[in-house]
Amino acid sequence: MKIFHTVEELRQWSRLARQSEGNTVALVPTMGALHAGHASLIQAAAASCQQVVVSIFVNPTQFGPNEDFAVYPRTLDADCALADAAGAAAIFAPSVEELYPAGAATFVDVESLGNRLDGKSRPGHFRGVATVVAKLLIAAEADRAYFGQKDAAQVAVLRRMTLDLGLATELVVCPIVRETDGLALSSRNIYLSAKERAQALSLSRALHHVEALFAHGERRALVLIEAARDVLTAERTVRIDYVELVDWATLEPRAAAAAGHLFAVAAWVGATRLIDNVILS
Ligand code: PAJ
Repeated sequence: MKIFHTVEELRQWSRLARQSEGNTVALVPTMGALHAGHASLIQAAAASCQQVVVSIFVNPTQFGPNEDFAVYPRTLDADCALADAAGAAAIFAPSVEELYPAGAATFVDVESLGNRLDGKSRPGHFRGVATVVAKLLIAAEADRAYFGQKDAAQVAVLRRMTLDLGLATELVVCPIVRETDGLALSSRNIYLSAKERAQALSLSRALHHVEALFAHGERRALVLIEAARDVLTAERTVRIDYVELVDWATLEPRAAAAAGHLFAVAAWVGATRLIDNVILS
């Protein structure tokens, strides 16, 4: 397993890898604290590309001033082992100064989408995400980059960004990996106490309920949203951030549900903010 710390090392490796006939390079951007959800992206990448690089970078610009940047789990050795087992050939673990050189003044703002869903409650979050992913895509010169549907609004922002900037990398979106009881895997789940862990199940339960109502013909957004809110607020310590039905491409709210729409929830369970979603089908 190769570990790169500079953009130059990554770029050289990627160019060399792509020189061989038919060789494709995949990038899997992460903030580390890798779990089976991340592993599924690495495995999907390894199944269709010859060389996979996993970036591990806790990106300061996507955290708000009162968020968990300082305490976000940093587990590089375990991450390397997991990435290796899942089929990665290399890790890119840059320093903050490497990706944000002294005096860095260039940011990518996906204007209309950046303030929706998580962008509404976490101002500047998607500006930080778009900026760092643009840097990673430019540095890696990958054929494909893999992202999880778990962060569905992030996917919409990054799809818009790659289109607008004419970036050559194809974005691939992989399904949400869940625990057997339904909880979506997240690096932040380790913050949950046993009691909170049980209450966190209300997110997937709410989405399951919405899917069932949709399957039975309910199309009114207000009804679906209210039903999800009822499931969430049944848990005393769960505080809703948002419950929304939106078009997955534009993140604009929809009054009537249709297949392909994104139904997304974000809620605080104790001090931990969790997100989950379903694409209606
Ligand atoms: P991070 O939260 O580490 O997630 C990295 C990738 O793993 C994202 O594409 C995310 O959607 C995916 N992922 C997380 N949990 C998942 C699950 N349970 N099932 C499937 N995929 C899952 O998202 C980020 O990092 C950052 O914003 C990043 C894109 C790296 C930019 O800093």
